[in-house]
Amino acid sequence: MVAFRTVGVAGFGLMGSGIVEVCARAGYDVVVREVSEPLLARGVDRLTRSFGRAVERGKLSNADADTARRRVRGTVRLEDLAGCDLIVEAIVELMDEKKALYHELDRLCPPATVFASNTSSLSITEMASVTKRADRFLGMHFFNPVPVMKPVEMVRGFLTSDETLAAGRAFCETLGKTVVVCKDSPGFIVNLLLVPYLLDAVRALEMGVANREDIDTAVRLGLNHPMGPLTLLDFVGIDTTYYIAEAMYQEFKDPRYAAPPLMRKMVLAGHHGRKTGHGFYAYPEGAR
Ligand code: 3HC
Repeated sequence: MVAFRTVGVAGFGLMGSGIVEVCARAGYDVVVREVSEPLLARGVDRLTRSFGRAVERGKLSNADADTARRRVRGTVRLEDLAGCDLIVEAIVELMDEKKALYHELDRLCPPATVFASNTSSLSITEMASVTKRADRFLGMHFFNPVPVMKPVEMVRGFLTSDETLAAGRAFCETLGKTVVVCKDSPGFIVNLLLVPYLLDAVRALEMGVANREDIDTAVRLGLNHPMGPLTLLDFVGIDTTYYIAEAMYQEFKDPRYAAPPLMRKMVLAGHHGRKTGHGFYAYPEGAR
């Protein structure tokens, strides 16, 4: 079976930085690529804070954090990912952007390189179709916050080979993750169930059923969830959830997956949740 040593991560946002962190902590050399220097700097800052928190909480020694940090190299050049055995893509949830990236990566990388998308809802088979390696292409869906959340949904595209799936599973297990396998269906397992619930919470707010705090408190205490749905939306990203919902709606044409108008307005206004400082709640700089 193929064993990966160097991991490339495309996208250094919320999910990308979590994926970089778990890979570096598991001993992999990581090259992470962002599209601009300011975005790269933001990713580095997020990663540094997360390592700092792990040290503060006594989960990681200072020395191990330093070693892990040294395994990570940031770049804005896509070519720098060409030497990696596995590339995990965690860019924006828009099919056209993903296809453009994969088209370019397929040209740059040797045939043996395996591509894995962290997409939450988009078709693996469609992304793979712009490459010449659909058998070495799979979905690897992590959950936020990546260092804490155990599962990875491993998605088998129409042409994903057994060998690729086995190598992906072995890799995720070295990260300490629990793998579940699912077919290439919008939302996979978790988002198929989660997204209608989150959208319904926004609809409840729009309908004035209760205020945001009471909606969250009711679910947190009534269902024993760690977070209420509006807090979770802020946490995951309102933009990301909106794109996931849109993709699911396009596929199923079921109004359950249609994003409510309030969400669309929040996305257009740049109120994307915790990461931008504004969502259903406000997050001052120090609280993000
Ligand atoms: N990075 C690393 N570790 C973190 C972290 C982060 N961003 N946030 C919290 N942690 C760790 C803490 O260090 C702590 O660890 P410890 O108990 O071993 O010291 C533990 O998580 C609990 O943290 P806190 O005590 O600070 O706070 P909470 O108890 O409130 O937990 C939470 C925070 C783990 C984020 C919890 O609120 C939670 O589980 N929320 C729900 C998360 C969730 O549902 N994620 C899935 C979203 S869906 C998704 O990602 C799919 C996508 O496609 C949409």
